[in-house]
Amino acid sequence: MPPTMVPVLSRAEIAQKIKTLARRISQDYADEEPVAIGILKGAFVFLADLVRELTIPVEIDFVRLASYGSDTSSSGHIQITKEIELDISGRHVLVVEDIVDSGLTIAYLLDYLKPFRPKSVRVCTLIDKAERREVKIPTHYVGHVVERGFLVGYGLDFDEKYRALPEIYHLEP
Ligand code: IMP
Ligand code: MG
Repeated sequence: MPPTMVPVLSRAEIAQKIKTLARRISQDYADEEPVAIGILKGAFVFLADLVRELTIPVEIDFVRLASYGSDTSSSGHIQITKEIELDISGRHVLVVEDIVDSGLTIAYLLDYLKPFRPKSVRVCTLIDKAERREVKIPTHYVGHVVERGFLVGYGLDFDEKYRALPEIYHLEP
């Protein structure tokens, strides 16, 4: 049986949430030029839409973090397979993530970024599964909070599938 896909956020709802986030970020970083660091692969769609709604200039970089474990939960064994390329020393950094679940990925990335001596680091995530948090991490900009479940679409995958869907769905096995 194919999995059931229950709609969570439509294209219009995603666009509205991104506009709201972008307005706050543009206000908070007025007169600054932050470096947005997207976490590959999942955040590539969100980052592309978010930066185009900002009214401030922004530089863009990516890291790729891989967590090895089951398909639907983070194992905590995180590896960085692509490092940052821009010099972020003394710069305001905005980490852009698709979804924060246990928080282990963001915690790992924040530790990784620290030695580069950024001026500040904030985290922007489209989706926050706040109830699943295992480590305390700061999420400054959150688009949407969900309680549980596994989501796909808009960059989010299950076993590399569904990333290209323009909407977000809850995958029910
Ligand atoms: P964390 O380290 O547990 O916070 O997990 C974060 C990472 O796990 C995200 O970057 C996603 O790649 C992946 N992830 C967590 N929850 C989901 C989900 O519901 N759908 C797709 N990927 C998810
Ligand atoms: Mg991800």
